[in-house]
Amino acid sequence: MSLPATFQNKVIAITGASRGIGLAVAKYLLARGAAVSMCATSSENLAKALEEIHREFPDAKDRVMTCVVDISKLETVKSWIEQTVAKFGPLDGCCNNAAKEQRKIYPVTELDADYFHDIINVNVCGLFHCLKEEMKAIKDGGSIVNLGSVASNYASAGTAAYITAKHAVLGLTKTAAFEGAPRGIRVNAMCPGTVNTTMMTQSFETAQGDFYLTPDKVPALMQRLAEPEEVAAFIAFLLGDDSRFITKATYYMDGGWLEGNYTS
Ligand SMILES: NC(=O)c1ccc[n+]([C@@H]2O[C@H](COP(=O)([O-])OP(=O)(O)OC[C@H]3O[C@@H](n4cnc5c(N)ncnc54)[C@H](OP(=O)(O)O)[C@@H]3O)[C@@H](O)[C@H]2O)c1
Repeated sequence: MSLPATFQNKVIAITGASRGIGLAVAKYLLARGAAVSMCATSSENLAKALEEIHREFPDAKDRVMTCVVDISKLETVKSWIEQTVAKFGPLDGCCNNAAKEQRKIYPVTELDADYFHDIINVNVCGLFHCLKEEMKAIKDGGSIVNLGSVASNYASAGTAAYITAKHAVLGLTKTAAFEGAPRGIRVNAMCPGTVNTTMMTQSFETAQGDFYLTPDKVPALMQRLAEPEEVAAFIAFLLGDDSRFITKATYYMDGGWLEGNYTS
């Protein structure tokens, strides 16, 4: 079955596109005709993702580029956006998806300060760097989607760094929406619950020992992890023209999240 080319001639930049949700977004958009610029910190991970894309989308070779970027470093973000515009032209959309999970689940009193700073640096300062460069390079009428989380609104003991960072995603999203509005640029936040990616399937370190989030422990009405493709479809809706009246909004795709503490 051929899919409608709803992203034909659109240029979309995606951070954290080497695996998980970011890679699923890249594939979803490539299948619908977009040109996609993907970044992540590891060249090996990006090479693997690109190999997968070349295998699954042999006709999309000229519509995809990858770049090693650490979003916590402004200069690398700036250079990536410049390279993207030089290759494909101005941006139509951006998916700010890259983030670091908090794997060490400890109360504030026991959480290492450097560890806290590192997560804030990637998840908050990194998003700021991306918005700073993207909003200069995006066309009037473009769309930006920032990845929040259920942790953008709900809290859980032991996860101060990630919770703080994901709350901040909403602040940056709303501010950018105000600043983009005069040019018709929309900025929204998409907040997943638990998704079947390495971020969720690796162990979390707690004082009581390692903790795994298995489907039976998902605190949501739907007791399973979402698949990255399900999240990608929602992100694509927000990136595309069908959502043209939506901005400064926050959407949750969390299987009906129950407000509890998932570490106990
Ligand atoms: N999975 C979930 O259950 C879940 C739930 C709620 C929200 N989210 C949010 O959804 C987004 C994607 O999550 P995911 O589960 O797909 O994560 P993931 O599987 O861990 O993938 C994260 C991606 O970000 C890249 N990355 C990490 N640090 C980076 C940095 N400093 N600069 C550039 N790229 C970086 C990683 O590649 P490298 O390692 O090669 O850099 C990878 O491509 C995140 O914002 C996350 O917080 C996920």
